[in-house]
Amino acid sequence: MKTLELPTEDFRRLAATVVELCSEYLRTLEDRSTFPGVTGPESERLFNLDLPEGGMGDQAFAALTDVIHNSRCQNGRFFGYVQGSGDPIAALGDLLGSILNQNITAWRSSPAGVTIERTVVRWLSEAVGCRDFVGTLTSGGSAANLMGLAMAREAKMPGNEHGLYNQAVGVIYGSEQVHMAVPKAVALLGIGRENLRYVPCDDDYRMVPSQLERAIRQDEAKGRVPIAVVASAGTVNTGSIDPLREIAAIARSRGLWLHVDGAYGALAAIAAPGKFDGLALADSVSLDPHKWLYQPLDCGCLLYREVGAARNAFTYTGNYAKQLSSDPVEGFAFFEESIELSRRFRALKLWLSLRYYGLRAFRAAIQRDLDHAQRLAEAIERSASLELLGPVELSAVCFRHILNEYASEEVRNHFNLALRKRIVARGKVYLSNAELRGKFCLRACIVNHRTKETDIDAVVSEVLEIAPKVASELAI
Ligand SMILES: Cc1ncc(COP(=O)(O)O)c(C=O)c1O
Repeated sequence: MKTLELPTEDFRRLAATVVELCSEYLRTLEDRSTFPGVTGPESERLFNLDLPEGGMGDQAFAALTDVIHNSRCQNGRFFGYVQGSGDPIAALGDLLGSILNQNITAWRSSPAGVTIERTVVRWLSEAVGCRDFVGTLTSGGSAANLMGLAMAREAKMPGNEHGLYNQAVGVIYGSEQVHMAVPKAVALLGIGRENLRYVPCDDDYRMVPSQLERAIRQDEAKGRVPIAVVASAGTVNTGSIDPLREIAAIARSRGLWLHVDGAYGALAAIAAPGKFDGLALADSVSLDPHKWLYQPLDCGCLLYREVGAARNAFTYTGNYAKQLSSDPVEGFAFFEESIELSRRFRALKLWLSLRYYGLRAFRAAIQRDLDHAQRLAEAIERSASLELLGPVELSAVCFRHILNEYASEEVRNHFNLALRKRIVARGKVYLSNAELRGKFCLRACIVNHRTKETDIDAVVSEVLEIAPKVASELAI
């Protein structure tokens, strides 16, 4: 019978097998399809097997090739969602982090781990121009937004002790383009989604400050309590950046917390700080290194100005977890500033990756993504068959095929939906989708350090090549 003891020599041999698989995967990445040609039933047949009662030993590793072949691959032609490309150096950090199995609860649990996380958080805050902010790494932007809004709610409308019963209605403001993570957070915090105001946007999908101020005044007049405004620094659809400085002034004058959802875009401040004027005026900012710092999932971050606000929201310490040291380093505990108690060593990959390449290399890669987006937008505008459907502020490009000049909006939507499905299935380039003012868009989002100009050019050629085939199949 197998025990859970693993001889070091077996580990060395198996690790070499995995490293070889990873290396071969990376070597062949650019030739791989961006989407595996697998169906639901096939993936069930391959992986939904019975739990083995007896160990399979080395045979367990044999199925890893199936895992690789049936995974979506982030080569230079992957432009879906806001999905970073996954730096392999960081992946090596993840491996060591798991072997060390550090629990990043408090310095006493992991002196190196906690110090490294505090260090990378400082590096990130300095890199995006939010010097003196502190914070924590999170599982992603959704968790960071939830934590930022939890701090806001507790600061402006305390409910941790007595709940929110018998209190006035609290209100959160975001633009019409705010990410779905925000209504989710508003619901989880007991504020209620009907108390999230969707402030109208201008033609470039940026929140209109005067409309924000109007909405706040209306709520105040009705006796409600405006809690926070969520400004987007990179909306998920078009990468639009709300006018942060103006929104910060309104938030400050009316006593609201300002949370900036920078999960998609704010790390681009490393390359283009001018686009993010006013970012440092926020009370809290979410960032996603697993998006635009090319880190393997998961790696999000919440930055905040006042550590007291984080403690106010999150400190609740059982006797068994009390700190025995008042030293600012040795007595530090992330769990007093975070939702989580047990936390993985996320910082190690980011620390290793930033040390290995240096910030300059990341700045250049982000700038390349920004330039690639402009290149794609120009190619779309040059094509009589394509139409750009939104501004290209950062690296998201929304467009469609017009089919022909007589096609109705309904037919165009139907056609582009089918077109996208076919493009994804072909696996040459991967596009996701968006909807802007009722129009179905093909959407390329470029947060990919592997992308070359030829990969960008492949987008338009692929769309133009497939369109006539899809149109004739649909008989339109
Ligand atoms: C603007 C914005 N906010 C929040 C999120 C959620 O981030 P995560 O997927 O890391 O939870 C995303 C994800 O794409 C996003 O684009």
